Amino acid sequence: MQNRNGLLKIKNLVKHFDISGGLLDQLAIEKGRIVRRRTTVKAVNDVSLSIMPRETLGVVGESGCGKSTLARAVLGLYPPNSGEIYYQNKRIDNLTPHKMLPYRKKMQMIFQDPYASLNPRMTVKKTLEEPVFFHNKSITATQVKEKVAEVMQQVGVDPQWADRYPHEFSGGQRQRISIARALTVDPEFIVADEPVSALDVSIQAQILNLLMEAQEKRGLTYMLITHDLSIVQHISTSVAVMYLGKICELAPTKELFESPRHPYTQALLSAVPEIGRKKTEHVKLKGEVPTPINLPSGCVFHGRCLYVNDRCIDEPPRLIRLDSGTQVACHGVEDGRL
Ligand SMILES: Nc1ncnc2c1ncn2[C@@H]1O[C@H](COP(=O)(O)OP(=O)(O)O)[C@@H](O)[C@H]1O
Ligand code: SF4
Ligand SMILES: [Mg+2]
Repeated sequence: MQNRNGLLKIKNLVKHFDISGGLLDQLAIEKGRIVRRRTTVKAVNDVSLSIMPRETLGVVGESGCGKSTLARAVLGLYPPNSGEIYYQNKRIDNLTPHKMLPYRKKMQMIFQDPYASLNPRMTVKKTLEEPVFFHNKSITATQVKEKVAEVMQQVGVDPQWADRYPHEFSGGQRQRISIARALTVDPEFIVADEPVSALDVSIQAQILNLLMEAQEKRGLTYMLITHDLSIVQHISTSVAVMYLGKICELAPTKELFESPRHPYTQALLSAVPEIGRKKTEHVKLKGEVPTPINLPSGCVFHGRCLYVNDRCIDEPPRLIRLDSGTQVACHGVEDGRL
């Protein structure tokens, strides 16, 4: 398995969604006979990775490639179909809700849309106090008040506004409040799922700076999910590139941006002029992303890859580690022809 010192380790994680619907939705006629068909979305397919303490792992990939599903499965919000998740070398994917409680405190999530993730009927004070009381049964009301005021200061929201409701704040301030809610319980690990995508570009940098400051001050470990490559380039220590629920490349950030090895990573980078074109020719992908309901055989990228051969169509590539520290799942790289 991966590095034993990883704070969070994921091993062969699979998460599929059954979207067959009711029995009547499942029935179909095939060669004159009634058959029952199940439909599954294969959102996350055999993902393994490890995140070191204080590291920021960026997870990138196009919409629908399974980033949010992976995030939710890691935090126990979706039970995986198979695979294992370890936190500080303790397996957590099979814990009862009661045994999972301490990990719910250590592992927090920040969502894309702060308006949807904050309860519109709760004041900021109540929103921030609730998780502190929930996770610290013996804490006094005065201690909670102090804690909330301290965290509000830290995220740049005036504690005097604690009695206001989410709609009274701007988008950027609401995201600061969501970050405060995650921080009030003193977590160790935060999954931030597209934390700035819903914000004006002018506000995005402020929120990213706030996340980096909090990381520095509190020694936090992040899994940062985004479709925006320039964000991961600036704030992550390593990057995992996902395609159709699989990791195709996982590398230290500098390595990934300077010498992307997987043809899909090369295409993604080359599509962002300020990042990629200096390093690689613009690679235009053929076709569309296939549906995760019917995954392609072999390498899931084979239908769009310029370097496909017979082996790629038949055999799924394994993630192999190169001397540079990059891990890549590509027969072309493994065979030495790319
Ligand atoms: N609760 C769900 N039920 C059924 N399908 C889902 C569910 N959540 C996500 N999916 C599907 O799983 C795939 C991956 O989705 P998601 O993890 O949200 O991708 P991303 O965050 O990369 O955009 C998509 O095809 C999406 O439609
Ligand atoms: S395994 Fe084959 S099809 Fe897949 S990315 Fe590599 S060369 Fe392309
Ligand atoms: Mg998502």
